[in-house]
Amino acid sequence: MTIDPAKDAAGRAAAALVRPGMRLGLGTGSTVDRFLVALAARDLDVAGVPTSQATQRRCTELGIALLDPAEVDRLDLVVDGADELTRDLVLTKGGGGALLREKVVATMGERFVVIATLDKLVPRLGDTFAVPVEVVPFALHPVRRELEREGLTAVERTAAADVPYRTDNGNAILDVRLDGGLLDPELADTWLTMLPGVVTSGIFVDLATEALLGRPDGTVESLSRPDR
Ligand code: 5RP
Repeated sequence: MTIDPAKDAAGRAAAALVRPGMRLGLGTGSTVDRFLVALAARDLDVAGVPTSQATQRRCTELGIALLDPAEVDRLDLVVDGADELTRDLVLTKGGGGALLREKVVATMGERFVVIATLDKLVPRLGDTFAVPVEVVPFALHPVRRELEREGLTAVERTAAADVPYRTDNGNAILDVRLDGGLLDPELADTWLTMLPGVVTSGIFVDLATEALLGRPDGTVESLSRPDR
């Protein structure tokens, strides 16, 4: 397996933030995988809440102790990837389909560090990446019709040709394209999540506190939310 040096740099930088005894939020995706490998190599007494079955399996392989959300009130540090982010640390997530558990875990964090490659930093969200929306299967068609009535294009995610994708929670995903990008991410998130049958959207506002963005040369740019 080839290791992307930019993802590896971001993952290692996040692993260096972990201290013994910390309770962690463990995100999902290929950049988080580099974080988990670097974390396991440190062999610290830590445990984390995984945001997907894939992360849960990977932690078991790597010997990272796991926690259930019921066992912990707050997490010291959440580390997760992103599909796009802006300088004010608003994110789109859910490319890997784990958006619901990722959002739940993000809200439990004292500190939420995003790890990504620098090319995911964009001036405006939604220009290149469709916003994932998790929907209960029963409501899939009504929700899609409602989105289309607003002029949005919503495509049901598939696992393979003619096989609908299902999240770890048994739900469907609509990938929603917004012409001209996301002008007001907070409003879009509120509107989407108010539609009956929508469980959550992949828009993360006011959750991330910092970002560690890896470059191909192995250096990392860090960003912090101005109000933190
Ligand atoms: C999964 C996610 C991932 O964090 C996001 O897709 C980034 O993944 P990667 O690090 O593989 O690019 O939101 O639901």
